[in-house]
Amino acid sequence: MSRPRFRIAQLGKEDRSGFQSDSEPLDRYFRTQVGQDIRRRVAACYIAIHTASNTVAGYYTLSAADIPVTDAPEDMTKRLPRYPTIPAARLGRLAVDKQFRGMGLGGALLYDAVQRVGRSEVAMHAMIVEAKDDAAEAFYRHHGFALYGSAPGLLIAPLKRLLKDGE
Ligand SMILES: CC(C)(COP(=O)(O)OP(=O)(O)OC[C@H]1O[C@@H](n2cnc3c(N)ncnc32)[C@H](O)[C@@H]1OP(=O)(O)O)[C@@H](O)C(=O)NCCC(=O)NCCS
Repeated sequence: MSRPRFRIAQLGKEDRSGFQSDSEPLDRYFRTQVGQDIRRRVAACYIAIHTASNTVAGYYTLSAADIPVTDAPEDMTKRLPRYPTIPAARLGRLAVDKQFRGMGLGGALLYDAVQRVGRSEVAMHAMIVEAKDDAAEAFYRHHGFALYGSAPGLLIAPLKRLLKDGE
């Protein structure tokens, strides 16, 4: 059987009501709140569409962020100027619908987010994420992120390395 095909696009008027990942808060956010965040320019949202059924199979959000230089891992800061903060892109949310899990879509959405940030004309040194549980943390660690700061579940990776890893 051939692998399912997906295309990634900016969220438009697609039906979001049936989206169901492993995370109820991420589903609720996607169904009810993301539109408002987009209108208010606090998040951008990109989706994977399963082309055969035209359903939303996954999504992620991106926002600008910065982190205190004192929170960043030493191997990141030692080559940076002594500015108080490091510019970053925040991958606020990432979720894949249960029926499309384990097909490489989560990794593909993360890759797409990294490429998108890499193409931005605004300089961002790193990507940051907040893992909501151990499984999410393991997913990001698997993709080269490392814990930073003192709050639990915060992970960071230098954009240059993420771009290189995706080559
Ligand atoms: C985490 C999630 C996005 C992964 O999506 P997915 O499409 O099932 O994952 P993929 O099939 O793309 O997996 C990509 C790679 O990550 C690995 N991976 C997936 N889940 C993993 C986990 N929990 N821990 C470690 N590695 C993981 C896979 O083995 C695969 O490795 P490979 O590229 O070396 O073969 C998905 O399970 C999900 O939506 N979870 C609920 C929401 C959530 O936790 N979001 C993230 C935090 S906000």
